[in-house]
Amino acid sequence: MCGIVGYIGSKDIETVLLVGLERLSYRGYDSAGIATIFKGELSSWKKPGKLHVLSSHLKNLTVKGTSGIGHTRWATHGEANEVNAHPHVSQRKKIAIVHNGIIENFLDIKKKLEREGHIFRSQTDTEVIVHLIERYYQDNLEEAVEKAVLDLKGTYAIAVITEKEPEKMVVTRKGSPLILGIGKDENYISSDINAIIPHTKDVIYLDDNEIGIIKRDSYQIKNKNGVIVTKDIEHITWDSEAVEKSGYDHFMLKEITEQPAVIRTIISKYVNEKGQIQFKDIRMPNSDLAEINRLIIQACGTSWHAGLIGKFLVEQTSRVLTEVDISSEFRYKQMISQGKEIVAAISQSGETADTIACIREAKSKFFKILSFVNVKGSTIDRESDGVIYSHSGREIGVASTKNFLAQLTTMYLFSIYFAQLRWMISEEKAAEMVAELKKVPEYIETILTKDAEIEKIAEKYHKSREFIFVGRGINFPSALEGALKLKEISYIHATGYPAGELKHGPIALIDDKLPVVCIATQSATYEKMVSNIQEIKARKGKIIVIATEGDESIKEVADDIIYVPNVSEELSPLLVAVPLQMLAYHIAVKLDCDVDQPRNLAKSVTVE
Ligand code: F6R
Repeated sequence: MCGIVGYIGSKDIETVLLVGLERLSYRGYDSAGIATIFKGELSSWKKPGKLHVLSSHLKNLTVKGTSGIGHTRWATHGEANEVNAHPHVSQRKKIAIVHNGIIENFLDIKKKLEREGHIFRSQTDTEVIVHLIERYYQDNLEEAVEKAVLDLKGTYAIAVITEKEPEKMVVTRKGSPLILGIGKDENYISSDINAIIPHTKDVIYLDDNEIGIIKRDSYQIKNKNGVIVTKDIEHITWDSEAVEKSGYDHFMLKEITEQPAVIRTIISKYVNEKGQIQFKDIRMPNSDLAEINRLIIQACGTSWHAGLIGKFLVEQTSRVLTEVDISSEFRYKQMISQGKEIVAAISQSGETADTIACIREAKSKFFKILSFVNVKGSTIDRESDGVIYSHSGREIGVASTKNFLAQLTTMYLFSIYFAQLRWMISEEKAAEMVAELKKVPEYIETILTKDAEIEKIAEKYHKSREFIFVGRGINFPSALEGALKLKEISYIHATGYPAGELKHGPIALIDDKLPVVCIATQSATYEKMVSNIQEIKARKGKIIVIATEGDESIKEVADDIIYVPNVSEELSPLLVAVPLQMLAYHIAVKLDCDVDQPRNLAKSVTVE
């Protein structure tokens, strides 16, 4: 989604802003622009399309400035064209703004301002903010911003500059992330650490309704009452190489390959030398967890699939009723409390607007929140009562891969930990489950060696315009995830079904051209799964099976087989996910799709 970067200092402003925007591009965008102030004059440049369009346009121009703001826009209000791209400038062209989020009451404000004589150039919601700031501006930018945001309903992270006060930049946020990067004789702002990490690792996270006044050699943060607040500077420990492709053709491929290392990292963080699970940074007392009688998981997309698998794991090991909801649905439902329950939010970015809205709604109803989050310091991390970090490192490919496996791994460990707190499994059983997890990285390494084999299957089927994925039990969500991976990066229509549901309708789709990916690893429902595959075969569907090594009989029904090592049913989704990711990847590459930044998608969905 949209990205913001800003700079005050003496480095080459064009480079700082364009490199910053490039480092935000993984989030997904369809236009980009920058604005700078040089010798008291505001200038702005913007272009639809990818960043190279803007940078080639700037090549023949001289861009200078001592302060500047930049933006990558993911269109919501108004198509992706030059006029709608950010920065937006005020009527008299003295003030420029970049904005992430959505202003819900922009039409009312626009009508009111039009009656006062304001002329709007774009169809965006953002433009009203800069007009409001101009309307309130007397001689102090932060005062004008403070007044303008009082009129806004919705979410925003904004950065504003004006040629009238060229030495400062004003930023504020509500519901969308914004950070300050602290330098020496220079300062940065951004919606994402990625944009500024080559320059500084010292950051301050702005909280909702705070206003930052940034100058080259100082900064000040005020809370919503106008009181100056002192905030901790946090030092980021990862470095910018974490976001390089390191020789891989795509981030997605690099991230798929990193999965064994991610699982090893998680084990090293949460399992001690004695094989016991310890969530050191959980921030939630065991007593809060031990007493609950219902776990309510909510998440979106791939994280929701991890939640569905998490439900299976938690119910299996601790017998605690677990519900799973899609965040955009959950928040509009009745939140019925039946005693002691905890809401678990699962999110890679920790910034997904629907998931944030849910935890806020749940907190207002006095539910405690435990989050499974990858990005430390994100909104969901900071607003939850407890947290279990995914430790998957930076995930750049828009399609989530390594973080999905990290979510499954942390969920697996949590289910054991939780069951132990409730005296539902013995120490021996817990140790056995942990020991089996330790073997998974090696198993995944074996699957990764099947790359050429999987590529051949991709070659055979990449021209199909639709796919069905089926699984049962814990691997029904794996089928959903396999279908999501394929559709989001290859634009092939794909759906996931519980295999037993096929005969209730979807079987009508099957003919001799339709590839059906069947997850048939060893499980309690294996025999039933084989019968479902027979039903597909009888209708001449093309059958690609994910099966357990040593399963010879499956050859009788399968057109193509990808074998994975034999593990318990609880751990099977970790292995099944990998060939499904690889299949989707190779199909998308063969179709020449933009694997890392698929059309219309964003890495972090910060609008509801
Ligand atoms: C799919 C994908 C998305 C995200 C979803 C939630 O590959 O990445 O479906 O899983 O947008 O994002 P997070 O986990 O950041 O809340």
